[in-house]
Amino acid sequence: MERPPRAEGLRSGGPAIRCAAADRRQWPLTWAGGTTRFVGLVRIFSGIQPTGRKHLGNYIGAIRQYVDGQDRGDPAIYCIVDLHAITVAYEPSELRERLYDTTAILIAAGLDPDRCILFRQSDVREHTELCWLLSSVTAIGELNRMHQFRDKSLAQRELVSSGLLFYPVLQAADVLAYRAHEVPVGEDQREHLELMRDVARRFNARYGEDILVVPEHRIPEVGARIMDLQEPTRKMSTTGGTEEGTVLVLDDPKTIEKKIKRAVTDSGTEIRRAPDKPGVSNLIDVLAVARGVSPAAVEEDMRSARGYGDLKGAVAEAVVGMLGPVRERYAEIRPDQDRLEAILAQGADKASALASDTLADVRDAMGVGAPQR
Ligand code: TYM
Repeated sequence: MERPPRAEGLRSGGPAIRCAAADRRQWPLTWAGGTTRFVGLVRIFSGIQPTGRKHLGNYIGAIRQYVDGQDRGDPAIYCIVDLHAITVAYEPSELRERLYDTTAILIAAGLDPDRCILFRQSDVREHTELCWLLSSVTAIGELNRMHQFRDKSLAQRELVSSGLLFYPVLQAADVLAYRAHEVPVGEDQREHLELMRDVARRFNARYGEDILVVPEHRIPEVGARIMDLQEPTRKMSTTGGTEEGTVLVLDDPKTIEKKIKRAVTDSGTEIRRAPDKPGVSNLIDVLAVARGVSPAAVEEDMRSARGYGDLKGAVAEAVVGMLGPVRERYAEIRPDQDRLEAILAQGADKASALASDTLADVRDAMGVGAPQR
């Protein structure tokens, strides 16, 4: 299989443009030396934890980008990471259910199993094997410094598992197994992405250039860090945030409206983004994304508003309009577990074919196992 070009030095972003001659979407890649080429071969990968409690931050920061990626990705690969979910205390009898919840949310949000590869992490054994192989080029000090490890280990009551420390190595394996160029994520994953890039570079330096692709993150300009509506200096999160301040993708319209109307705002009445106005800034960003306009356009539009009440009303309406259809489709899709299982199995077959190719090269370069080629 032809290997996609390396993405080292690539600046992701910029609009997709249509190339009339080939009549297929092309994408500008700017390389470290400054040259720009238009290529169609952009391999996209991202992962998401299995929970039915996906929230507005996940939706805006990540899921919307996954849906867009389907038109550019060659292929776009999305993985529901059940093996990451076992690094903290969890309920084994519920894990599969939550995985189906997430699968159904992603499909309801617009992922089309015919246009992307959607699969369950544990179905593709190459992830865990590559995780172990990459541990040989991952420094323990780097893992210890990860903010997510520090925060999550503080939250564990009984056991801080070594899996929690190893979490970013498995995450690196997820992406590197596919030689993906681009990883759509929210701002909170920047540190893990940096670590992954270091691991890939170190691997290539030690075992052979061009074996692994050094991927780029794709973090949206607006909405990369949606904040808790009750504590707008903390990111929205189902584990670390407040119940009232977290809008779930599956919340009914009344609940969404209630949570948004009770959002904590700031002193003053001006509707504009500012560092000392975290609550209002967050609402402006949410409204901008939900309406598909810039935050500046929202500020402009809100000039004639009578106060924060108008802003909240507009945000509630726009968010209900954005999430309502997802919730309705979810209700249709979720009951058919056999179909969800079939979609995941088909995705795992396609994913395995790609990952096993990388693993053969990695094992060979590392001198592990019988000679392969
Ligand atoms: P998870 O499931 O916690 O989050 C999924 C995605 O949602 C983004 N996100 C947010 N974006 C904006 N505002 C917020 N408040 C917010 N909260 C979460 C996250 O940045 C993420 O993109 N470690 C990953 C899962 C993972 C992964 C991977 C991601 C495993 N392997 C490989 C990329 C590539 C995680 O915990 O996602």
